[in-house]
Amino acid sequence: MNTFTFYNPTKLIFGKDQLEKLKEEIPQYGKNVLLVYGGGSIKKNGLYDKVMTVLNDIGAEVTELSGVEPNPRLTTAEKGIDLCKTNKIDFILAVGGGSVIDCTKLIAAGAKYDGEAWDLVTKKAAATQALPFGTVLTLAATGSEMNAGSVITNLETQEKYGWGSPATFPKFSILDPQNTFTVPQDQTIYGIVDMMSHLFEQYYHNTSNTPVQDRLIEGVLRTVMETAPKLVNDLENYDHRETILYSGTLALNGMLQMGYSGDWASHNIEHAVSAVYDIPHAGGLAILFPNWMKHNLEVNEGRFKQMAVRVFDVDPEGKSDKEIGLEGIERLRKFWTSIGAPSQLAYYDITDEKIDVMADKAMANGEFGNFNSLQKEDVVQILTASL
Ligand code: NZQ
Ligand code: ZN
Repeated sequence: MNTFTFYNPTKLIFGKDQLEKLKEEIPQYGKNVLLVYGGGSIKKNGLYDKVMTVLNDIGAEVTELSGVEPNPRLTTAEKGIDLCKTNKIDFILAVGGGSVIDCTKLIAAGAKYDGEAWDLVTKKAAATQALPFGTVLTLAATGSEMNAGSVITNLETQEKYGWGSPATFPKFSILDPQNTFTVPQDQTIYGIVDMMSHLFEQYYHNTSNTPVQDRLIEGVLRTVMETAPKLVNDLENYDHRETILYSGTLALNGMLQMGYSGDWASHNIEHAVSAVYDIPHAGGLAILFPNWMKHNLEVNEGRFKQMAVRVFDVDPEGKSDKEIGLEGIERLRKFWTSIGAPSQLAYYDITDEKIDVMADKAMANGEFGNFNSLQKEDVVQILTASL
């Protein structure tokens, strides 16, 4: 293991009927609240009314920012920043999935920054301060509810980057599995693929002596894989929603990534794909990740073998490490296909036309990936194998 310092100040409030806790949390920060949400799912499922009732009960002055897009746009965050400045907002409440929360993070940091919000995303400037914000999570996927990361799309320049700072952790997050009952089947599948991808990103590293981290990741992966097929056919099952919700948070709140750095190349390539084609993040991951794995199998065959045997139950008898690793990757592909995830870019009508553009975008900050550092030709090969 490498040396590390772990920091995560987010208060996690998990379980049934916990919305009332907003009454204890929000008044600590002030009365002027910006409520941020997406395209209307919370109005349809009644969560909006419940949140408004609580906000009225505590006498909050509420300003609203609705319509945050999946793959949240810079322009929407800029609208939120203006609202914070003109309405003297004390606290921001994000009610939604990863996109709403990520957008809120940029609003919170942008409200305390004098320059262009895009500077924070491109890391031209560091976000040293942010307005306090909390979340009510409605979709299990990104882990954004308990990490400091945010991913923002600049539609004008077709760029999508991740950023974050110690100032952009939520103060608290309320996770009630019931609030995820209405997530449609496709988004439920995407969420499962995303959290599994976060676990894979962290598993593929070359740091020695991480047996606890390995077993933790393998345990969460196995649990997600046991639960996923049941959940996608029974969307209002409380126990399955609960298991998946907790898994998504654990997969990317830093708990599993102590003492080493994960790879994160597949995420970087996916962000380039969705910057150009605006496809769902995990749809892209489902297509790309097994191809990243095949491309990098020879970098550390032992790591792929361990995953194949421990998570995908590959029988190692009489096979080389490479064959075992490859069988594990094929089982992953089969599993994702079995729950309904896409396997080729053609699913989103993406052809070879813009491979070069996407590869250049992925290379914007130079070579990347900790397990294996990728050059443009590697990205082109992975994208081509994904067509
Ligand atoms: O906008 P509304 O109407 O709310 O509908 C959303 C949206 O259409 C819907 N939805 C959410 N909760 C629902 C619901 N529909 C019915 N019932 C509910 N309870 O689901 C759709 C997708 O929502 P979105 O927030 O976009 O999904 P997700 O949570 O997967 O977030 C994806 C974004 O997060 C970024 C991705 O790149 C993408 O932009 N990521 C953020 C990370 C982070 N901050 O740590 C890490 C991830 O790897 C990822 O890159
Ligand atoms: Zn992700």
